[in-house]
Amino acid sequence: MTKSMASELDALGAWDPEKARELIRTLLVQTHKQRVLIELAKLSGSEFDLIKLLEIIARKSTEVVDADRAAVFLVDYKRNRLWTIVAEGLEDQSIITLPMGTGIVGYAVSQARQVIIDDAYNDPRFDKTTDLRTGYRTTNIAATPMVSRSGRVLGVLEVMNKKDGAFTHEDADFMLAFAGAAANHVETATLYREMETLFEGFINTVAAAVDERDPCTAGHSRRVKVYSRAMGEEVNRVDGGPLASIWFTPDDIRQLEIAALMHDVGKVGVRDSVLNKRNRLTDDALRVVTQRIDLILSKMKLDHALEGKPLAPEEEAVVQDAIQFIQRLSAAGFLSTDDAKRLWSIRELGWLDDCEYEHLAVTRGNLTPAEWEHMQSHVTKSQQLLARIPWPEKLSRVPEIAYCHHEKLNGKGYPRGIAAPQIPIEAQIVTVADIYDALTAHDRPYKPPMPHEKAASILREQAKENFLNNDLVELFLGQKLYAIKD
Ligand SMILES: [Fe+2]
Ligand SMILES: [Fe+2]
Repeated sequence: MTKSMASELDALGAWDPEKARELIRTLLVQTHKQRVLIELAKLSGSEFDLIKLLEIIARKSTEVVDADRAAVFLVDYKRNRLWTIVAEGLEDQSIITLPMGTGIVGYAVSQARQVIIDDAYNDPRFDKTTDLRTGYRTTNIAATPMVSRSGRVLGVLEVMNKKDGAFTHEDADFMLAFAGAAANHVETATLYREMETLFEGFINTVAAAVDERDPCTAGHSRRVKVYSRAMGEEVNRVDGGPLASIWFTPDDIRQLEIAALMHDVGKVGVRDSVLNKRNRLTDDALRVVTQRIDLILSKMKLDHALEGKPLAPEEEAVVQDAIQFIQRLSAAGFLSTDDAKRLWSIRELGWLDDCEYEHLAVTRGNLTPAEWEHMQSHVTKSQQLLARIPWPEKLSRVPEIAYCHHEKLNGKGYPRGIAAPQIPIEAQIVTVADIYDALTAHDRPYKPPMPHEKAASILREQAKENFLNNDLVELFLGQKLYAIKD
């Protein structure tokens, strides 16, 4: 209650019903305004969505000063302009920008002071553009700068067309208090947004750097993120079966998305020679083997020549065949029993050293057991790297989710061999996304991408063998989530 109201109450003395009614009405309005200020204060720490916050500020300010419309303009110092997305009463809520200094709002920013105008069309500072575009007729305006704690003008809170006359001193005072509180929130929300953008940019760059190490997996992490988020959101829509009881909050989805994006970050610790190994022997190692056997052939020819009987063409062909066999085997994905025997015999001739033999004798794929172990260590490395980040509580499970992306439901995965109940559902989602993308990636120069149908049947097979969560696989395939683009 203001001093003048208190003295008016004292002065009532003799009961004057009319005056009492007026006082009570004023008191109610004051109480309402205070409540709105308290509500705005309470928003602190709970509303970080800048647009939502601006909407609340605009709505509350029109309500309290009984204005017809409000707009909250923010200053974009980088581009030297003002912008708003929240202009009440305008049909389209797209971003409106004004060059710095335009209109009453621009004046309030440049002077860093409140401007109250009773007759807008008679004020040369008023910019009629918006009225002309929308057909609205602005009469009076109260434009109040939102000033941060450090004295920087962050924006302007503009209310227009008071419903019963002109804006009063009381309205002006209220708007100053309201704009001050709003500025604090806008500053916090802007900082929060900047931090989010910085974080987003940082993790995207880290993920791209990981993918970049292996030219054949460009974009893998980003696609696994997109698929995983789509699956998480789709799980929330399922209303029958085992997935119906799972509900992800927006924070859970964010956590899933980050874990998916960062799942292979541990690959930064995997040696290039293993990560980018395309064949059983590296190009250099294959060249050494070829040159060695060529030398052996030359020596055989020389020895024969010295003995006066040239090397028989069949004998030369055996050596040439051995070279071709080794070249073919180096690029093969599988070693048959016959090939294994032939490889052993070549080794017995001393044409291969132990290391070359070990690399060529791999039964499946192109990594030796030691290399395979090193490759698998990327999962533990992912967990260890991610665990070093001080995640907020709502994202605290990112390292654990990433840690499980090569586990299988039946406990036959790696690195820990844990089974279904211990594997978080988010990790089960990332695993489906990871396998699908690894199968269908379009960026392997040495082989065409696997068609979707083949990849889908592999996912289903793996679900049948209890490697993958069958409900998630069916959701992914059934809802065509693989077709979703970022
Ligand atoms: Fe991985
Ligand atoms: Fe992966």
